[in-house]
Amino acid sequence: MAGRIPRSFIDDLLARVDIVDLIDTHVPLKKTGSNYMARCPFHTEKTPSFSVNPAKQLFHCFGCGASGNAIGFLMDHSHLDFVEAVEDLATFVGVPVPREAATKPDGPKKDELSALYEVMARAAAFYAQRLKSGPDRARAVEYLKARGVSGDIALTYKLGYAPEGWSELKSRFDPKILATAGLLVVRDDGNSYDRFRDRLMFPIRDRRGRVVGFGARVLDDSVPKYLNSPETPLFSKGREVYGLYELLEHEARPERILVVEGYMDVVALAQYGIHYAVAALGTAISRVHLELLFRFSPEVVLCFDGDKAGIDAAWRAMEQTFPCLKDGRRVKICLLPENEDPDSLVRTEGVEGFLTRITTSSALSDYFFGRLTANVELESLEGRAQISHKARKYLEQLPPGEFRNMMFDELERLVGRSRLDDSENAAKLTTGTRIAQRRGDRQRLSLAQFVIALLLQNPELLDAVEQKEIDWEELELSGYGSFNSLVKSLLEREPENTSVVLEMFRGSKEEKWVKKLSFMDLLIPAEGLRAELVDALDRLVAQARKEGVAKLLTKKQGEGLSSGEMDKLKIMLAAFKKT
Ligand code: UTP
Ligand code: MN
Repeated sequence: MAGRIPRSFIDDLLARVDIVDLIDTHVPLKKTGSNYMARCPFHTEKTPSFSVNPAKQLFHCFGCGASGNAIGFLMDHSHLDFVEAVEDLATFVGVPVPREAATKPDGPKKDELSALYEVMARAAAFYAQRLKSGPDRARAVEYLKARGVSGDIALTYKLGYAPEGWSELKSRFDPKILATAGLLVVRDDGNSYDRFRDRLMFPIRDRRGRVVGFGARVLDDSVPKYLNSPETPLFSKGREVYGLYELLEHEARPERILVVEGYMDVVALAQYGIHYAVAALGTAISRVHLELLFRFSPEVVLCFDGDKAGIDAAWRAMEQTFPCLKDGRRVKICLLPENEDPDSLVRTEGVEGFLTRITTSSALSDYFFGRLTANVELESLEGRAQISHKARKYLEQLPPGEFRNMMFDELERLVGRSRLDDSENAAKLTTGTRIAQRRGDRQRLSLAQFVIALLLQNPELLDAVEQKEIDWEELELSGYGSFNSLVKSLLEREPENTSVVLEMFRGSKEEKWVKKLSFMDLLIPAEGLRAELVDALDRLVAQARKEGVAKLLTKKQGEGLSSGEMDKLKIMLAAFKKT
């Protein structure tokens, strides 16, 4: 595995690239004032509201709210993950990507991992061999035959048979490695035995084809029907789906991917020529799963049993999809007849019948609004308010884009009310009202937020903060904790521009409001920035001291002060007099 990309390299890269050049190769830009404009590539529009700011090295769309730095642009526009986007950007700039030595002090070492991969591969080969020619293969072969699984497809999916007996694997391989690989159960008294016995084995392979886990089915009606590998250093249910390797072997960029519930469904569909199904591993489908699937296909169809449990599962799965639904990605929901699954349906209805179900399944938007309004009186105000409230919770999770706008439009139509989505409203505002709104924006900022916004947008002013020699410990006292830690991390990192600042917060809980403050128009001419900052800092320190003193005085009258607090109060009062 390649090591991490050093953080300093990413900062350098962002400082070196010109986002205007980069975006211009994807979306032709036109200079307008100090910015560059274009029609937004993330939503459809007639007049340009997509702007690129060369000073901040950021892009921002007033219409749909899409925003970010060069890395973010490549991630969103070219559908890349973070590392891919950094690599792309490095290629654009013409520098190689360095990697830190791949050391993971706490995790398993490389040798240990390869020993685990090896034992999994050998166990899978052992199970497969026992299905092909083991002395006790008959029942397993009979079972597969009875379920109509062909020999070919058993080979494609490397199906196997785990024979009866408590130490078939244990006697053949290193028990310690077997245990770490999840193939042995280790009891409290230290005794151990083979986890999978007398079961049909479904190897779960990662995207590189390495066996990382197993699903194991009984050959009769006993319970539990399936056993699965536990979480191991190689295997995490939340990250893998069954059948993805086999699917990609068949087709690297499938038109759609079906998500079904069972191992047997994946296998049966493949046998009938439908090679693009995968199954979550006995867990609900997660965002991580969905992001993984969307990397290979623009459409994901979620199939569920049509019973109550299936309908509930479909709703839960749908909740997971909202944050993933960038423009260009589609989710469909396919509810199957009760007590049927894809395995049984494809056998009884044939490929044509089954595919008709898939192609005519509901678009997520229809399914969502259909279910949402199912038991609600749309005629009553209460009913509509209820829907509006509930729907917004979901729709707000949609990433900016045309799909988001249209979902809000649909909700608006349903409840008969406008102004549901703020970003949508922003798009409709005229320039005049936009400026008025920006003034309002600034007025709504607290002093601390205003200072932060100034620093985020003009990190070159950080030296002014240093020159002030503010005693941050002292300010800590009065609830400026998050302000302090943010300024401290900026002082430590010394970001070259706002684009680097944004990078510091990618994926953090502060990301959203850091972005918001970064884009806010503070309406200060360039030559006045430093003076504004110095003034604001003075006022902030004074304000913090005042609040701090007030707090200590209140405490003094109440529960009383410790001697440390008493000293602090004295120092602060003295500082007060000076200013
Ligand atoms: P199903 O019971 O729908 O399984 O569970 P299936 O694949 O249709 O099984 P067959 O057709 O009877 O062979 C769906 C999935 O839930 C997980 C498995 O991943 C299974 O494929 N599961 C089910 C378990 O992990 N444990 C169980 O005991 C049952
Ligand atoms: Mn089944």
